[in-house]
Amino acid sequence: MEMKVFLWSLAAVLTLSSAVSSPVETPRERHIIHPLRQLSGSGGSPPSGVTCASWRFGVETNSVRGWTTVPRRCERYVGHYMLGDRYRQDSAAVTAEAAAYAEGLRLNGNGKDVWIFDIDETSLSNLPYYAHHGFGAEEYNSTTFNEWVNTGKAPALPESLKLYKKVLSLGVKVVFLTGRGEESREITSANLRRAGFEQWEKLLLRGEGDKRTALAYKSSERKKLRREGYRIVGNIGDQWSDILGKAQGGRTFKLPDPMYYLN
Ligand SMILES: *[C@@H]1O[C@H](CO)[C@@H](O)[C@H](O)[C@H]1NC(C)=O
Ligand SMILES: [Mg+2]
Repeated sequence: MEMKVFLWSLAAVLTLSSAVSSPVETPRERHIIHPLRQLSGSGGSPPSGVTCASWRFGVETNSVRGWTTVPRRCERYVGHYMLGDRYRQDSAAVTAEAAAYAEGLRLNGNGKDVWIFDIDETSLSNLPYYAHHGFGAEEYNSTTFNEWVNTGKAPALPESLKLYKKVLSLGVKVVFLTGRGEESREITSANLRRAGFEQWEKLLLRGEGDKRTALAYKSSERKKLRREGYRIVGNIGDQWSDILGKAQGGRTFKLPDPMYYLN
């Protein structure tokens, strides 16, 4: 069900997308994402001689860090990666491990076991936005991005939604911890519910004027949770700054995201 919604959204995305120049089939075709081929990235990318596929490997392993935009010549590669099967497969590989780990947990059963979910590119997908505005090769534009956030129409990442349901079924509570600001609380709650994330123990957003790095902000929120008596059994995000730092949790899971890097 949620998978269908996601594919439909992506089909809609492809009709908007100028970044992906592959032949686009009829927008009504639900499997429209499948014909997209993963590119080899043979156009070269920084440093010279490194393919886009290798650049992405460096990014996902946090060897390539602190970058502000996707190298221009890798934008098409990243677009294909994100809209094709590979992103979904990589995400599924991560969430399957997370689900297996969750199943094997010995829980306290006192209602204080929590799993932390990041929101953007973890629980909710902003692919409709990026497909329209380019896959990370442009500087971040807070105006257009906030307009997108305020539509409240981000679809769920199907693999993460499945993991969310799994951990809830095991009796683990969910805490959403996001870099979105307090001003987005209402629309974010509405979007989460609309996408199928119907309950949570806490939804933690950045306070107004909080200029800390994501790493510092998220570490501090997790430490606060611990002081409140919660045990963080798992933690999943698409950024290294979601899962490094203090009070990381019993185990961390890194979802793919070659579109942007947050310190
Ligand atoms: C952000 O996008 C808006 C709307 O397209 C544009 O007017 C503005 O100049 C952009 N801002 C930056 C910093 O690029
Ligand atoms: Mg994120």
